[in-house]
This record gives sequence, structure tokens and C-alpha cells, in this order.
Amino acid sequence: MRILVTGATGTLGGAVLPALVKAGHQVRALSRTRRESRGNVEWAWGDLISDGGVRDAVRNVEVVVHLATSGRKGRGAADVPGTRMLLTAARAAGVSHLLFTSVVGADRAPVGYLKDKLAAEGLVAESGLGWTVLRATPFHQWLDRRLADFLASPALPVDRSLPWQPVHTGEVAARVAALLAAGPSGSVLEFGGPEVVGMEDLVRTWQCAHGRNRPRLPLRFPGRLYAAQRAGALLTEATPKGRITWHDYLFPPPPELSDDFAMEHTASPTSPATQPEHDPDLRVYGGDEGYQRPTRG
Ligand SMILES: NC(=O)c1ccc[n+]([C@@H]2O[C@H](COP(=O)([O-])OP(=O)(O)OC[C@H]3O[C@@H](n4cnc5c(N)ncnc54)[C@H](OP(=O)(O)O)[C@@H]3O)[C@@H](O)[C@H]2O)c1
Repeated sequence: MRILVTGATGTLGGAVLPALVKAGHQVRALSRTRRESRGNVEWAWGDLISDGGVRDAVRNVEVVVHLATSGRKGRGAADVPGTRMLLTAARAAGVSHLLFTSVVGADRAPVGYLKDKLAAEGLVAESGLGWTVLRATPFHQWLDRRLADFLASPALPVDRSLPWQPVHTGEVAARVAALLAAGPSGSVLEFGGPEVVGMEDLVRTWQCAHGRNRPRLPLRFPGRLYAAQRAGALLTEATPKGRITWHDYLFPPPPELSDDFAMEHTASPTSPATQPEHDPDLRVYGGDEGYQRPTRG
């Protein structure tokens, strides 16, 4: 399929592009930064707020994957007016399926950013296009970055009453690819991580992975959104769900080695396989200059 991906440079976009290319689609990626097209991805310039470039970007595509967002601090500009404009352009271009990503809890806790996501979901559902909405729980990568934001502070604030259900962007991307293959569902679907983790555990595991021993400061986060999260409104039991846990994300298991690779890298210290530089014809490593021998662990 010919697919336009908005938000292609974002956290999820970085996983969706390779997933779609791998599935054999022709991918056009939208960004407000001009980029050179390379390999299997054609980059298109466009801004969902000013409208520039979007009509051209959507031309000759069958499917739109709409990931672009102004984020929690962006007051919904790319999410609501931007989605409205994209839908108009997509209708004019005869797009048959638009998949929009939203946030689990948008309907149960329509506050701030989630309120904008819910409004955008409504626009998508009423657009007259074939559509699918996929709500996801917070991404591992996003949480990782939010926690890193506190590294400059003397302590890490932790609200022990908050449950989290983080999910891996690679698995959300695979779900997006599967939903595109299935065609427009005309429904709102949810996708969450494999487990619910309390914030104390979540932060402790993160500190362990990053070797950060700052004290954890117990707090009760204020506001309606955290109250809704405390009550479980941002969790989902929908299946399928992701399989990669927060712990697995932070401590990735070592790659499984093929028999040949294992033999090569565990050979005795006197084996020629461990000393390719002593036998230039052996070419165990293909003669790659600058090749760093992989280490286990
Ligand atoms: N982050 C999470 O934990 C999470 C959880 C659940 C659901 N989601 C949803 O998943 C989707 C992707 O989120 P993300 O975290 O990957 O986003 P992100 O990392 O914040 O990236 C935002 C993307 O939107 C694009 N964008 C922003 N304003 C734009 C505009 N005016 N015109 C065109 N493009 C614009 C940016 O592209 P350029 O800067 O290149 O133009 C960027 O690629 C969103 O729908 C979000 O609501 C996110």
C-alpha cells in the first residue's frame, strides 16, 4: 500500500516507519523539517497547523497513519485543527483508510491533552473516511525520557498511588501494521503494555538500570488527570497486549546467538577464530575496518 505517515520523526514514528517498510509498503513520511528521501522512505515537508505541504503530501496515497501531535504542552494544535485539516485533504485525495493514534483513558479522563485527543478521535470517526483509532498506554521510551528530566533535581518525585502500564513502541508499531493490513475497523481499539506497575517499582527499576541512586521523594501528584490515573482510568485490559515489560526494556536480554556465532566468540584464547589479525586470510570478521568485536552481556 502507499502510506503517508504523519509524526514520522516522533517517538512512535521511529518504530512505525521501519515496521511499514518491512511489511512491503511504500512509505511517505511527513515532517516540518525538510529531509532528503533515502532508501524506502520518501520524505515530504508539511505543517498540519499552517496547512503548508499537506495537500501535496497526501496525494496518491491510499492510507494515512496519523501520529503527529503537539504533545501535552502543545495545546492540541496539531491534534485538533491539524487533524481536521488532514481529514479534509485526505478526503479530497480519496484516501481509503486513516488510522489515528490516541491515548488510553481519553474517554474516561478527558482532561487537558486527553480532551484534545478525544476531540480529534471524534473528528476522525465523523470524517466519512474509512477509519481506525488506536489508543495506547504510555510508551517505555517516553517514560524513560520523563524520568531522565528529573536527573538534575536532588530527588525523584514518586507518587506511589499511580499505576502505569507502559508499552514498547516497537509493539505498538507492529499493531499499527496489523491494523492497516486488516483495513478500516470503524472502531476505537486499545493497546497496552503487558503489566501494571506501581510508580515506586517503576522508578526503582529505572534507577537500577541507569545506576542513579537519588533519593525517591514520596508525593501525591495534584490534579484531575492524576486522580483519574490513580483510579485506573489510564489502564486497559484489551487484548492483544504488548509482551515487552518495563524491566525487559531497561535490561534487554542478550541476543540469542547462532551456533556458529557462539563458537566463534567463545573459542579458546589460542583459537585462530579469536585472533583473526594473526591470519589475514582467515577473514572471520569479513575484513570490516573498524569492526568492534561484540561482547556478551
Ligand atoms: N508518548 C506516549 O507515551 C504516547 C502514549 C500513547 C499514545 N501516544 C500517541 O502516539 C502518537 C505519537 O506520539 P509520539 O510520542 O511519538 O509523538 P512525539 O514524539 O511527540 O512526536 C510528535 C510528532 O508530531 C509531529 N508534529 C508536531 N507538530 C506538527 C505539525 N504542526 N505538523 C506536522 N507534524 C507535526 C512532529 O514532527 P516534526 O517535528 O518532524 O514536524 C513529530 O514527528 C500521538 O498520537 C500520541 O498522542 C503517545
